[in-house]
Parts: sequence; C-alpha cells; structure tokens
Amino acid sequence: MDFDLEQTDRLLLTTKQIRKRMDMSRPVPRETILECIDIASRAPMGSNVERNKWLIVEDPDRKSQIADLYRKNAEVYFALGRTMETDARGERVANSAQYLSDNMHNVPTMVIPLRLDRVENASSGEQSGWYGSVLPGVWSLQLALRSRGIGSCWTTLHLGSEAEVGELLGIPDTVTQVCMLPIGYYTGESFSVTARRPAAEITFIDRWGNTASSLS
Ligand SMILES: Cc1cc2nc3c(=O)[nH]c(=O)nc-3n(C[C@H](O)[C@H](O)[C@H](O)COP(=O)(O)O)c2cc1C
Repeated sequence: MDFDLEQTDRLLLTTKQIRKRMDMSRPVPRETILECIDIASRAPMGSNVERNKWLIVEDPDRKSQIADLYRKNAEVYFALGRTMETDARGERVANSAQYLSDNMHNVPTMVIPLRLDRVENASSGEQSGWYGSVLPGVWSLQLALRSRGIGSCWTTLHLGSEAEVGELLGIPDTVTQVCMLPIGYYTGESFSVTARRPAAEITFIDRWGNTASSLS
C-alpha cells in the first residue's frame, strides 16, 4: 500500500469548516481551484452520469450581492438560534457563523457546486441518488483545498435566496445550487481533530440497537 496513513488520516480528521481563520486579504489562484475541482469530479456519481457543474465567483460586486442575500437569510436563522438553548460547542459555531456572515463580502472566492435539474417531490431513493451524485464531490473539494493550505466552509444559508443568486449569476432555473463554499487560505497549522462520538457507539451490528460497544 502506497498511502501515508498518518497524513491521509490527519487530512480526514482535521479538515474543518474555516471561517475566522480565513485570510480575507490573500487571493486564491483560479488555477488551483480548477485543479481541486478536477480532483473533486472523481467522486462517485449515480450511473456514472456527469450532471454536475461548478461556478467560481471572483467578481467583487457579485460576491458582495451574494453576501447581502446570504446575510439576509442568516440573520433570520441566527435569530431563531438565539431563542434556543445551546452548549459551549453550539455557542462557538454560532459565533463563528456570525463572523462569516458579517464578512462574507470579503471572502477571496466563492464556489457554488451545481447539479442539472431539480429534485422536488422525489422519492427518498431518487433524492438519495440525486444528492449522492453531487455532495461527495463537495467534500472532496474541501479536502483537496485543505491539503493545499486553502480553507473553505460548507454553507447553505444563501439557498433561501437561491432564485435571486441564480438570476445574478445567470444560472438557469432548471439547475440546482447545492451549497456555497467561501474559499480562502487559512491561517495557522494547528487543527484539532473534530469531536465526534466514537464509531462503536453510533454503529449497529446486524440489527438496529445492537451497538458495537454493547456487544464487546
Ligand atoms: C449541510 C451543511 C450546511 C451548512 N450550512 C452552513 C451555513 O450556511 N453557514 C455556516 O457558517 N456553516 C454551515 N455549515 C457548517 C457547519 O456549521 C459546521 O460543519 C460546523 O460548524 C462544525 O464545524 P467543523 O465541521 O469544522 O467541526 C454547514 C455544514 C453542512 C454539512
């Protein structure tokens, strides 16, 4: 096996959603993003049919208009969050999400992953096949960027204004925007391992409820 597991596991364990650590002043070369999209396009697709597109937004005016729409939706979401109880981790995410929203117009680049067609009123199998053919590539893009020193944050809040953003960017209304990634070089190298429950607690063996930890 020719993989350096220490390196690949570190990449997978420490790829974070970057907001406060994004360097807003350093441009990200378009060629590097295209190189990463080339890698991300290798993610699996149902029936191996290529129906995904990507839109890179570099123009400051367009970024600013998208940021305004993002912020409009984010404020509604944040206001709702403030009425709910949260723990320390939730507080940190809320604080960081607020920062990104306030500074969205300054991000060096935005990338919008797209899929041809819409998937409204579809069965769960159709939805699974549809989103499952586009979202793995988004995570691959985040990993490819991260290994080049570039951070990104998976966001969906602009989708409350998907039609307006679509109009702004000339995206046909038959095409779905699946999320939006602000992209920029990250500062510092110290990324902790993302906190998650252990596999043995969240994995069942042979039957729902038989967690791996309860059997050992
Ligand atoms: C489907 C999805 C939608 C998300 N939408 C947003 C968003 O609109 N804005 C935002 O700041 N973060 C968004 N996030 C990022 C999460 O808030 C993030 O994963 C969380 O802060 C944990 O960060 P970590 O993965 O770096 O530990 C989204 C993540 C996912 C997977």
